[in-house]
This record gives sequence, structure tokens and C-alpha cells, in this order.
Amino acid sequence: MSSTFIAKGADGYDQYMGRWSRRLAPLFLDFAGVADGERIIDVGCGTGSLTFLIPERADISAIGAIDFEEQFIEALNQRNTDQRISARQGDACSIPFGENYFDRALSMLVLHFVPTPEQAVAEMLRVVRPGGIVAATVWDTFGGMPSQRMFWDTFAAIEPTALARRGLALVRPMTFPGEMARAFTAAGLENITEASLTIRMDFVNFDDYWFPLINGQGTLAAFLSTLPQGVPERVQATVRQAYLSDQPDGPRSFATVAWAVKGTVPGR
Ligand SMILES: C[S@@+](CC[C@H](N)C(=O)[O-])C[C@H]1O[C@@H](n2cnc3c(N)ncnc32)[C@H](O)[C@@H]1O
Repeated sequence: MSSTFIAKGADGYDQYMGRWSRRLAPLFLDFAGVADGERIIDVGCGTGSLTFLIPERADISAIGAIDFEEQFIEALNQRNTDQRISARQGDACSIPFGENYFDRALSMLVLHFVPTPEQAVAEMLRVVRPGGIVAATVWDTFGGMPSQRMFWDTFAAIEPTALARRGLALVRPMTFPGEMARAFTAAGLENITEASLTIRMDFVNFDDYWFPLINGQGTLAAFLSTLPQGVPERVQATVRQAYLSDQPDGPRSFATVAWAVKGTVPGR
């Protein structure tokens, strides 16, 4: 299996995560860089939060975008009006391009869903020319996502069978301090730089927080529905209390941090 990401449609994704990955994309591009004339690959492009920003930043020559999920590729292609962007289904662990083909490989919010992320890093390195850049960013799921933690900590405290799922959600590959930088070094990349990128996840009210969270990701809604009668309602009511924190329902804002790492491809 090459992906642990469970897609629930392009619209559900955009409501749950795409709205935040669009905020992260400019910060990630500032970090990873992009230059006129470059050929770039967006590995795990999803519905295109990063893909569509790249040509706004530089007069690139081409973007290859791949994602494991055919439905996201279809959604991206439906939106695309730029002939330089070409998107297709593909696996980060077996990138469907030849060696040295790109100037830059970028991957946003993907490596923590790849069971063998080292292989994906090696593949990004393979398809980038010597002197080119490989860069990736993943959420700091354990220490940098308070909106998720509020949900999982509350859920697991109420319902012990949620503990294992909590662990899977918070402790993902490449998300511990220095882990992704070590993987880049081990792959043979040089001049490794690591940074933290911070956005805000702003919700207009509890419903705007809750419904995309339970409906937009994986099998969470299905899991909630298997719990004994009354438990899902209790979880929702208790998470709501945590969201409200004795204040009227309305906007709440959560600072959210992603790890970012980049390195240079050595001569070969
Ligand atoms: C959180 S989404 C990020 C999508 C997009 N980069 C963004 O920031 O909105 C994770 C994406 O990684 C993709 N993915 C996971 N494993 C993959 C793999 N082995 N190869 C290609 N894509 C993969 C998923 O299909 C999903 O689209």
C-alpha cells in the first residue's frame, strides 16, 4: 500500500483540508523557492492548492502534478486552464518520470500519508537534476495542530476504543522533530534546511469546525456511527464545550504549524 490517505471526494477534501492547504501553499513556496523557466513536479498534488499557485509566482516552463487519487486528478484537471500544468494519477514511491527531468520537486502535506516516505524522498531526488531542489512540508500533527488535538484528546478520553485512532492521527511518519530532515540527509540530499511554517485555521463557528472534520476525512464518520448509542452525541457535545470554552458560539482561530525541509540534489 502506497497511501494511508482516505479520500472522501474533492469537495469534502477542499472543505476539510484544501481551505488550509491553500493558506500554507504561499509559505511553502516562499521556503522552497521557484524560478522562471523551471520544470517542477508537485508530488501528491491533491486538488491543486500548490499546483495552481506555482505559475502565479514564476514564469515556469512546466508543472507535472501527480496524486494517488484519481478523483483529485479529475477535479484538478477540471479546474485547470494552464497548458503548462499536466496532472495524472501516480505514486510518490514510483514517480512516473525519468531521472533528472525536473528542476524542483515539491510535496505539500503528503509524506505523512506515505507508509514508506523514505522511498518517496528517494524518488523525488531521482527525478530532479543535480543542483535542483527537493522540498516537502507535513503538518506537525503531534505538537502543532491544536484543532485536531482538541478533538482527539476529548474523543479518546470519552471513548477508549478511539485511543488507537488518536495515535494514528497524531503520530504520523515524518512528523517528529528532525525526522524529515534526517530522511532528506539519509537520501543523499545536501544543504538541508528545516523550518516551521505557521498558518491560522479560522472557523466561523462550531459547525464549521465539526462537520468538515468528521465528514471530510477518512473513515471517521463511519467509526463514530459504530459506537454505542449516545457516545457520538457525547463526543460532539464535549468537543463543542471545548470549542466554546464558556463563550458564545462564533469564530475561533487555531495557530497551526507545519514542518518544512528542503535540500539540494548532489552531482551524480
Ligand atoms: C492532505 S492531502 C494534500 C494534497 C495537496 N498537496 C494539498 O496540500 O492540498 C494528501 C495527498 O497525498 C496524496 N498521497 C498520499 N500518498 C500518496 C502517494 N503514495 N503517492 C501520491 N500521492 C499520495 C493523497 O492522495 C492526497 O491527495
